[in-house]
Amino acid sequence: MNEWWQTFFDADYTRLWEAWIDSARTEQEIAGLWKLLDLRDGTRVLDAPCGYGRISLGLARRGAAVLGVDFSESLLNEAQRRRGEAPVERLVYRRHDLREPLPESGFDVALNIFSSLGYASEADDVAILSTLRNAVRPGGRVFIETNHRAQWLHTGALRIGRAEHEHAPRSLSDPRLSVGLSAAQA
Ligand SMILES: C[S@@+](CC[C@H](N)C(=O)[O-])C[C@H]1O[C@@H](n2cnc3c(N)ncnc32)[C@H](O)[C@@H]1O
Repeated sequence: MNEWWQTFFDADYTRLWEAWIDSARTEQEIAGLWKLLDLRDGTRVLDAPCGYGRISLGLARRGAAVLGVDFSESLLNEAQRRRGEAPVERLVYRRHDLREPLPESGFDVALNIFSSLGYASEADDVAILSTLRNAVRPGGRVFIETNHRAQWLHTGALRIGRAEHEHAPRSLSDPRLSVGLSAAQA
């Protein structure tokens, strides 16, 4: 039997969420990742999961060599449709359940962006994180961006007027986020 997330990420997901995450936000995230993670021409990036290639495509266009992996056939078809002239040396998409190890390794960076954990059991999350960890080279980085209860507390605190949280970083392009990066190094 399918788990809910195995059918949820379809054409409707792309249509609904893209209305909310506009291209300006995505471009800002890509620029933030490029800077924070010191990405360069030829840096090997695993974008897992990649969805419809929102982040993968922009990183490949900047020169990274990206493998985008996702379970959703629908989103991967959309990613392929959007890739334009991106060459296979820069961008490859693959359908794969990230709870299972990938055959490739040696990536400089593995990305897990836009709250892409927590859809199934904790054991499933650990399996996905192990896949990412095992895919990066020694000293490589696993970068996770996700909703966290502290963020929701922060949002709630703002709503009830506690302005001291006002200056917390809120986007991937905020340079203060780089402080956490050393802790995230594999
Ligand atoms: C919220 S979307 C984010 C996609 C992308 N990172 C982005 O920023 O647009 C979450 C994605 O996780 C994928 N996903 C969830 N569990 C997965 C798994 N076990 N293996 C592969 N993909 C998975 C879904 O198919 C979906 O595309």
